[in-house]
Amino acid sequence: MTDTTLYPVPQSALDHTLCDHDRYMKMYAQSVEDPEGFWRDHKDRLDWFKVPTKIKDTNFSGPVSIRWFDDGQLNACYNCVDRHLETDRDTVAFIFEGDDPSVTSTITYGDLHSHVCRFANILLKNGVKKGDRVTLYMPMIPEASYAMLACARIGAVHSVIFGGFSSEAIAGRLDDCQSDFIITADEGIRGAKTIPLKANVDKAIQILKESYKQEVKKVLMIAHTNASVPLTSGRDILYHEELETVDADCPCTPMNAEDPLFILYTSGSTGKPKGVLHTTGGYLLWASLTHEYVFDYKKGEIYWCTADVGWITGHSYIVYGPLSNCATSVIFEGVPNYPDSGRFWEVVDKHQVNIFYTAPTAIRAVMKEGDHLVTQHSRASLRLLGTVGEPINPEAWNWYYSVVGDKRCQIVDTWWQTETGGAMITPLPGATALKPGSATRPIFGIKPALLDAEGTILEGAASGNLVILDSWPGQMRTVYGDHERFVQTYFSTYDGMYFTGDGCRRDEDGYYWITGRVDDVINVSGHRMGTAEVESALVAHHHIAEAAVVGFPHDIKGQGIYAYVTCNADIEPDETLKSELTKWVRTEIGPIASPDAIQFAPGLPKTRSGKIMRRILRKIAEKDFSNLGDTSTLADPSIVEDLIATRQKE
Ligand code: PRX
Repeated sequence: MTDTTLYPVPQSALDHTLCDHDRYMKMYAQSVEDPEGFWRDHKDRLDWFKVPTKIKDTNFSGPVSIRWFDDGQLNACYNCVDRHLETDRDTVAFIFEGDDPSVTSTITYGDLHSHVCRFANILLKNGVKKGDRVTLYMPMIPEASYAMLACARIGAVHSVIFGGFSSEAIAGRLDDCQSDFIITADEGIRGAKTIPLKANVDKAIQILKESYKQEVKKVLMIAHTNASVPLTSGRDILYHEELETVDADCPCTPMNAEDPLFILYTSGSTGKPKGVLHTTGGYLLWASLTHEYVFDYKKGEIYWCTADVGWITGHSYIVYGPLSNCATSVIFEGVPNYPDSGRFWEVVDKHQVNIFYTAPTAIRAVMKEGDHLVTQHSRASLRLLGTVGEPINPEAWNWYYSVVGDKRCQIVDTWWQTETGGAMITPLPGATALKPGSATRPIFGIKPALLDAEGTILEGAASGNLVILDSWPGQMRTVYGDHERFVQTYFSTYDGMYFTGDGCRRDEDGYYWITGRVDDVINVSGHRMGTAEVESALVAHHHIAEAAVVGFPHDIKGQGIYAYVTCNADIEPDETLKSELTKWVRTEIGPIASPDAIQFAPGLPKTRSGKIMRRILRKIAEKDFSNLGDTSTLADPSIVEDLIATRQKE
């Protein structure tokens, strides 16, 4: 049941607000009626080397083309670091909280400047040039942000790969964007466990050579745990040694607004991850503006986003958004349940965090461990609580609101995507009354619409597929190296509209409720996983003939991965093979893609034309056998009976 209670804006948000309800309504109206004028005004929140005269030049149909601030020049690193130095050299940019609670350090904007300049000089010295793609495979340590900013400073394009992806996944991404420079660390540490980052990179380079016939020129390694790892001479370079050889000054390269800033790979409904490309001016403006308005950020406040920089949330709301606003942020290396499940609130008290932003899966994971782990910490500094990544169930929302926030903190449930660059549908503190589980209303410049399967725009209270009708500055520009795939994926379902891949309901108050993906993407712990990606990993195993993967409800992860697997005729399926397959997927993609359940299937339910009927597979995984819908097109109905019988036994 959805709770449709309107929670009024808490007093703490009203007292503080940057944008009250009337101002939001006025600004929103102007932003959609006169986008040119709105963004002409708001571009000035960035420092431009050459102020753009062109504002919006975007086309969602015919040849799809998205350009913002086209004749402007700027540098993202300059906007995140250098421009703050005159007034805020000694302001803390980052508070680092290590996996080990005794490890803490602070980095001021002055420190950040010298770290980033040195990092940029190391890159230049080792041959990285403007436009080159630099791959990062890093733990959550401040050096990850130095590396990103150093790339931005010299105009290199970073491609960050989440530290939980496998060597195979790294190799595929290196090949896709033809990147031959990697930045990594010896090891990562999370929850007191080490992650062999450098060893994974070494293996990826070998795969790249063997399977893709590509070479990597340099691997720059940061000594984090000081583990002894093998080095390849001529290829591997040590950050700490290089630091001695470079100086702490490096000019910012002027970039055109539409020059690429970064690539970030994300799963889609077809097999291969897409290189989502974001450019400099529009993305930075979007990250900066949304960070300030959504979190109602005021200078001096302590802000903490628990994401990893390997995901878009880390890019926009740990690095580019907060730094462009001269914020003080916590960078957290650890996990929510180490040393115990009260770690979040311990860190909140320790660093006096005012704004806290996390994912529903993390909330559910700590919620189940009991309220005492929260209430034993004061949390008095908290003012605002955010969530992102997946729909938040009302139970978790209410717990977050009542127990964590003591009913005095505004919640911002922010809906957005890797492709959108920053928050799109979200409450604004002080402006939006809340409903548990609803991302509420669109932010400036965003025109959402709901469509039915025939492409008719639905008015008023309705449920349908969520599209965005017009461009916004933070929108991805293309799929790296494959503009046709960009057009096909996002603009071919409904002509002239950006299709999000999400289903959504709009209620009578005009509030949006995201219901989840309507394509073959599953959302596991707030991370996107394409079912086709997991399927192709499974069928790559020599015992497997066919596989179909669907999502099913999971208490903590939101959705879990359910795999139906058909073995080759001569194979006797058993528990050993199940665990071998789970391990196999971890090696092929990474731990986040590990199936939560595997069911051996003598065959898969297909239509007479050979299409797998996933709808039925989803229902069986959910144990909802009564409502399988129309099964008259099945080629062999006995297969379904077989699958149900096996599932019923579990
Ligand atoms: O299905 C939506 C879900 O996450 C998808 C985007 O995933 P990704 O590109 O990995 O970005 C996650 C972080 C921005 C969306 O298509 N999603 C994200 N935020 C929410 C959400 N679903 C419901 N409510 C949200 N607040």
